[in-house]
Formats: sequence, structure tokens, C-alpha cells
Amino acid sequence: MHLPSFFRSLCLTLGWAVLVPALPVSAVEDPAQGLVQTVTSGGVTDLSVSPNVWLFVPAGQPATPFVPAGPFTAKWEGLVSADLRGDFTFHALVRGALKVTVNGALVLEAKDTGPELAIGQSVRLNKGTNSLLVDFTSPPTGEAMVRLYWTNRETPLNPIPLPQLSHASSEALTRSLLVHQGRDLLLENRCVMCHSAAGSVPELKMDAPTLNGIGARRNADWMARWIQDPHALRPGTPMPQLFTGATAKADSEAVAAYLATLKGDAKYEPTSGDAAVGQALFEKLHCVACHVPPGGGEAKPHQISQKQVKAKFTPGALAAFLRRPEEHFKWIRMPNFKLTSEEAANLAAYLDSVADAAEAKPVSTDAAAIEQGKKLVSTVGCLNCHTLEGVKNEFTAKPLSDLVAANWKSGCLAETPAAGSKAPHYSFTAEQRSALQAFAASDRASLGRSTSVDFLARQSQHLNCRECHGQFEGFPAWDHLYGKLKPEWAARFISGEETWKPRPWAEFRMPAFPAYAQGLAEGLATIAGLPPVTPPDPAPDNAAELAEAGRKLSSANGGFSCVSCHGVGEFGATQVFEAPGINLAHSFDRLQPDYFKRWLRAPTMIDPSSKMPVYFDEEGKSPLPDVLGGDGPKTIQAVWEYLRLKDKMPPPQ
Ligand code: HEC
Ligand code: HEC
Ligand code: HEC
Ligand code: HEC
Ligand code: HEC
Repeated sequence: MHLPSFFRSLCLTLGWAVLVPALPVSAVEDPAQGLVQTVTSGGVTDLSVSPNVWLFVPAGQPATPFVPAGPFTAKWEGLVSADLRGDFTFHALVRGALKVTVNGALVLEAKDTGPELAIGQSVRLNKGTNSLLVDFTSPPTGEAMVRLYWTNRETPLNPIPLPQLSHASSEALTRSLLVHQGRDLLLENRCVMCHSAAGSVPELKMDAPTLNGIGARRNADWMARWIQDPHALRPGTPMPQLFTGATAKADSEAVAAYLATLKGDAKYEPTSGDAAVGQALFEKLHCVACHVPPGGGEAKPHQISQKQVKAKFTPGALAAFLRRPEEHFKWIRMPNFKLTSEEAANLAAYLDSVADAAEAKPVSTDAAAIEQGKKLVSTVGCLNCHTLEGVKNEFTAKPLSDLVAANWKSGCLAETPAAGSKAPHYSFTAEQRSALQAFAASDRASLGRSTSVDFLARQSQHLNCRECHGQFEGFPAWDHLYGKLKPEWAARFISGEETWKPRPWAEFRMPAFPAYAQGLAEGLATIAGLPPVTPPDPAPDNAAELAEAGRKLSSANGGFSCVSCHGVGEFGATQVFEAPGINLAHSFDRLQPDYFKRWLRAPTMIDPSSKMPVYFDEEGKSPLPDVLGGDGPKTIQAVWEYLRLKDKMPPPQ
């Protein structure tokens, strides 16, 4: 049974309206999935959709960007579905006070649990959906935290699987999500580069490609067309149209003629590569996650065309771009695949071979036009977003605080540009306009507040994380990354600093998003109710003894034979053909201890398709009674102590 469609038909039968906003900025994929989260602080209330009953708010920070910091209450509401009728017990880790109500009955009450889980009363869940309501009150000071788990006879302790949680929409939720979406549009489109606003949201500082040396990298004819109408060349680009009216074409060409003179120091050597090899690489690396398939087929709205590369890039500049997309634009959304120069040349050859033909139109070298272009660049607003050494910006606009909500139908939000207006033109849809207007009518204090969950929800959508994760076989599924990795390791990995490849057997590659890595990594922890910095995890007194037991348990010799699938440092896996596992010498640095324990206890509870065997019986007992008396938790702890030795792990034997 597919829950969301079941849920919709339930709503229809019950006559509820299912209002699903078109583009919610949300941490859940299906709009009906997750729970409605209502947070109230300082008399202000914010509604959003949360994937689970998870929350982590560091001391002194707001629970969401839409409420002030300080003591708060949170409530989660929705439905929890069970495959079969059965008795469940809810458990929780809490800093603050928590009440869990299922089908109207209070089943768990807990306060400041410390590291031990609070355990509720057993409750009968019906097959199908059950109502879930969770109330939380933060502690008066310090960090606030909630992590809810459940268990029954067949199900070892785990968070409720995300697809089993759903909610109905409401007018209040839709209204709240519209304000969130308006804030997102304001940030992505860099409105604050012209309409200045103070704040702490990382995206307030987002840059645009530098214009230094742009003439050596981009063709003038393409730049003229881009400047004249960026949205026509790339729907959804944050760059607005600055020239409208009768002189738009001539102005754009003058600017392009000027930009073409900016050659800088970099030299681009034409590359030659093998287009067929490039095509194979394009497929292996799943570039279609973000790009229109060059071979044709239906393009999705988020996919960017590469048809213009011949017209846009000067010879050699395409391969250089592919190797280091962030070189001239820190916050670019195109990630770095760590391509070798040969790989970049092959990809460039392939993309050139499928691109539209480029007419080599001559560039104006008329000195007056170039001078006019330079003047326009410094007076129309280009340099509010773009940097250019040696040219002074002479453009200003009103600060954001002066743009009163009643005027968010004119200026930059006008449907058609008004004659003589200095405001840029955007190609917003009616829905995007109403989202921006909803944000304008809010108190706008949310620009001064940021949380890593907010950053993750927004940027994982813009960066298309889910277009790879969960789409292709062998990729870690997106939902499983919530609360899986230590944020320190995840930040190194997402930024591309970590050179070790977890799954070396696969041809795919995780590309690097350096500017976004820290925020995404913290968000992947806090969204699951875990801290953004891994707390100390001191080794127990008998760590050495346990590690030795863990080593024995992992061996093929009287142990679980973990080594048939997993390498340990230099020691290679012995039967890799079966189901290759990740080299265990890195797992201590990678994994959240909570995730590790749940994974080893029952991997298929986390990933139902996993080929990693389940070793423990229903009661959690180990099948090796000779080691640690067959005690499940002790056995799992022993393997963790073995993993703690990292690159010093002795080979399992
Ligand atoms: C290139 C600079 C620039 C950017 C970027 C920009 N604006 Fe403007 N905006 C202007 C100028 C110039 C005006 C005309 C009024 C003025 O001089 O400030 C204007 C006018 C407006 C007005 C009408 C205000 C009034 O009081 O008449 C609104 C609303 C507005 N902008 C919102 C936005 C939003 C929302 C964004 C982002 C989607 C944005 N602007 C991006 C420069 C910019
Ligand atoms: C996570 C999304 C994502 C993935 C994956 C991705 N790209 Fe991109 N790519 C982008 C974005 C976004 C841009 C636009 C960047 C900009 O100009 O700001 C872009 C731009 C480009 C451009 C320039 C297009 C133009 O007209 O300016 C080329 C070429 C390109 N990508 C090639 C590739 C190749 C080859 C791969 C696979 C190895 C790939 N991309 C994978 C997001 C992605
Ligand atoms: C509101 C900010 C903003 C303003 C104002 C703006 N741009 Fe841009 N521009 C961008 C962004 C962001 C990109 C990257 C395109 C993308 O990501 O889709 C870009 C891309 C470009 C590019 C292509 C660069 C490359 O390396 O591919 C050129 C050229 C350019 N802009 C020139 C201009 C000029 C000239 C003006 C003034 C007439 C201008 N821009 C005004 C934000 C802006
Ligand atoms: C072009 C496809 C692609 C895109 C887009 C992508 N990833 Fe990945 N990601 C991968 C692949 C492939 C792996 C596995 C790499 C390996 O094991 O060597 C991976 C692994 C990861 C891991 C490590 C998981 C683990 O268990 O080892 C994290 C964390 C991650 N990605 C986060 C992200 C985030 C955040 C985004 C969006 C900003 C993103 N990914 C976008 C392909 C992608
Ligand atoms: C039949 C092969 C197989 C055996 C035997 C096996 N595993 Fe795994 N293991 C896997 C697979 C497959 C994964 C998931 C790999 C992925 O995420 O792509 C995995 C993942 C793991 C992870 C997560 C590693 C990380 O850094 O993400 C740990 C830890 C782990 N296994 C421990 C063990 C231990 C301990 C044993 C023995 C008790 C064991 N495994 C036995 C196949 C196996």
C-alpha cells in the first residue's frame, strides 16, 4: 500500500481539502509525508512540515527562523501508519518536557532524560493510520532536544520510518509555507544585493560570477544575448533582466563589448578529447540529475540545458569550468566532480558535439561603445552582485526595510517592466509573486535568524540532492542520511576535502559542494535531533578488552565473518563479489554512534534492501554465546570499540 495515495483517498472520503502548495521548501519529499510542526516562541507561531518527531536547538538559537530565540513550545501532529495491528512502545531522548499522545491516549511523558531513553507504556496501534500528537516544552535555558523512537516485538528500537508518517494540510500551514517560500525566493534571487538588509542567513552573502577576466572565458556574442534576457537562456536563473525597452539590445551589446575587453591573466588552451568516452562518463556520473539529457527526452523544470556551451565558452574555457566550477563563483550550484584534465577534455568534447552550433559573430571594438558599456556596468546595478576590480559601483536602491508591503506589486515585482523604471525585471510566476508578497507582509525578522535545518531544507532542494540520492541503484538513499553521519566527517566529505571514497567498487562519484558543505552537514544531524557538533564519546575503561572481542567477532574464525564483505584498513574483504561493504577503518569517524548501534542490530530496519545480514535474534541476543555471554548490546559495543581504533585496527582474525 502506498501511503500518500491512500492518505489522499482517505481525505477525499472524509471530505478534507488537501491543499498542497506547489513549491514548499521542505525537508520531506512527498508533500503529504511528515508531520505538521507548530513552534511558538515569544508570542509568535510558525508552522512547517518536519520529517519526524526530531528537534535539536543549540543554546541561544531560535527553534526556526520564523520565531525569536528563547523558551518555546513545539507540537507535532499527523498520522502514523502501521503495516499490521500490534503493540508498540514509544521511547524518547529529551532535553525539555515531552508528551506523546496516540489515538487520544497519553502513552509517554518524559523530562530531561540524559543519555538514557525514557520508556512509555505499550499501546495498541491499528492497521492503517493512527493519530499522533506530540507536545514539547523547551528547557528555560540551554539546548533543547527531542528524538522519538518506537519498538514492538518484531521491530527493534528505531525512529518511526519516515514513509509511515503523514499529515493533512490546512489553510494555516499553506499560509505559513508561502511565507517560507517567499523568503527563499528573496534569498536565492539576491534581492538584498540591491535592497540591503542585515541578517545572519548564510545566503545573504551569496556571490555571483566575478567579471574579472570574463572576456577570456566567455564569448561576447553570448554575453550580449544573456544580458539582454537571462531568463530566456536559462529559466529560473537568479540574474535579472536590467535592460528593457527600445535600447535594450544596443545597451546589452555595448556591455558585452566592454566585458570582452576584460582578458585578465588566465590563459585557456583549447583541449581535445574523445566525445564517446566523454558520453560514457556523463552517464556514469549522472550529470542528468541536474541537466537536460543531451540525447533528448523530456526535461524536468530543474534541469539546466547545456546546449549553449559552444556559444558561451571560449576555446578551452569549458574544460577549465568543468574541472573547477567554483573558481570564479564560490556559491555556484554546479558541483566539483574532481575530474582529471583528461576526463574534463572528454566531457567537453562530448558536450561540444551535442551543443547548438554557434555563430561566430564579430565583437564590436568601437571605442565609444566600449566606453558606453563600461558606464552602464557601473550605473545599472551589475556590480551590486558581480565583482569587478577597478570599476566603481554607482548604483543604489532602497534598503529592504523601506520597501513597504503595499508596493510589492510594482518595481521588481511588476508583471511587465514600467517605462523609465530603474528596477530590474524578473520573470516570476503568479505564485512566486504571491509568495514574495506574503513574505513582505511578515515581520521579516526571519532574515536575521538562521538554523541548519532551514539551510538544509532549502539548499538540498536547490542543489538537487534527491535527484541522485534515492534515484539511482547503489546510491545512499536521501532519508537514510538524516542522523547517519557525524557532521564533522560529512562536512569534509561534502566539501570534497575527504579524498577517500567510501564505495570504491562503484563508478559513481559524490561531487563536492564546498560553499554549502558545513551547513548541509550540520543540517543532516540537527534535522534528526542530533547536535551539530559531535559530543565527546569517551572510551570505557575496558575498551582494549572489548576491542579485542570486537576483532574476534568480526573475523571469519569463530566470528560473524564481517570481513567477507568489509575491508579493514589494508586488509581487503575476502568475498567482495557478494555485497561489498564499506572499509570499517573509517566507520568510527563517519557514523553517529546511535546509527551504528541500530544498524548492526538490524540493518534491514534502516535499509530494507540491504544485503548486510541480520545477526541478532528477535530479543537482540547474539548467536555467539562464547563471546561476552551472547549479550547483544555488549557485543555491539565491542565492535564499536574495535572500530574506534580506526587506521590502527588490527586485521580481524
Ligand atoms: C539590481 C538591483 C535590484 C535587485 C537585484 C532587486 N531590486 Fe527591487 N528595485 C530596484 C530598484 C532600482 C527599484 C526602484 C526603486 C528604487 O530606486 O529603489 C526597485 C524597486 C522594487 C520594489 C518597489 C518598491 C517601491 O517602494 O516602489 C520592490 C517591491 C522590489 N524592488 C522588490 C525586489 C525584490 C523582491 C527583489 C528580488 C526578487 C528585488 N527587488 C531585486 C533594484 C533592485
Ligand atoms: C547538483 C547539480 C548538478 C550536477 C550533478 C551537475 N551539474 Fe552542471 N551545472 C549545474 C548548475 C546549477 C549549473 C549552472 C551554474 C551557473 O552558471 O551558475 C551547471 C552548469 C554546467 C555547465 C555550463 C552550462 C552553461 O550553459 O552555462 C556545464 C557544461 C555543466 N554544468 C556540465 C556538467 C557535467 C558534465 C556534469 C556531470 C559530470 C554536471 N554538469 C553535473 C548543476 C549540476
Ligand atoms: C541580482 C544579482 C545580479 C545582477 C544585478 C546581475 N547579475 Fe549577472 N549573474 C548573476 C548570477 C547569480 C549569475 C550566475 C547565473 C546563474 O547561476 O544562473 C550571473 C551571470 C552572469 C554572467 C555569466 C557569467 C558566467 O561566468 O557564466 C554574466 C556575463 C553576467 N552575469 C553579467 C551581468 C551584467 C553585465 C549585469 C548588469 C547588466 C549583471 N550581470 C547583473 C547575478 C546578477
Ligand atoms: C550526481 C549525483 C549526486 C548528487 C547531486 C548528490 N550526491 Fe551525495 N552522493 C553521491 C554518491 C554517488 C555518493 C556515494 C559516494 C561513495 O560512496 O563513494 C554520495 C554520498 C553522499 C554522502 C555520504 C553518504 C554515505 O553513507 O557515505 C553524503 C552525506 C551526501 N552524498 C550528501 C549529499 C548532499 C547533501 C547532496 C546535495 C547537496 C548530494 N549528496 C548530492 C551522489 C550525489
Ligand atoms: C554480506 C555482506 C556483509 C556482511 C557479511 C557484513 N556487512 Fe556490514 N555492510 C554491508 C553492506 C552492503 C553495507 C552498506 C554499504 C553501503 O552503505 O553502501 C554495510 C554497512 C556496514 C556498516 C556501515 C559502514 C559505514 O561506514 O557506513 C557497518 C559499521 C557494518 N556494515 C558493520 C558490519 C559488521 C560489524 C559486520 C559483521 C558483524 C558486517 N557489517 C557484516 C554488507 C555486509
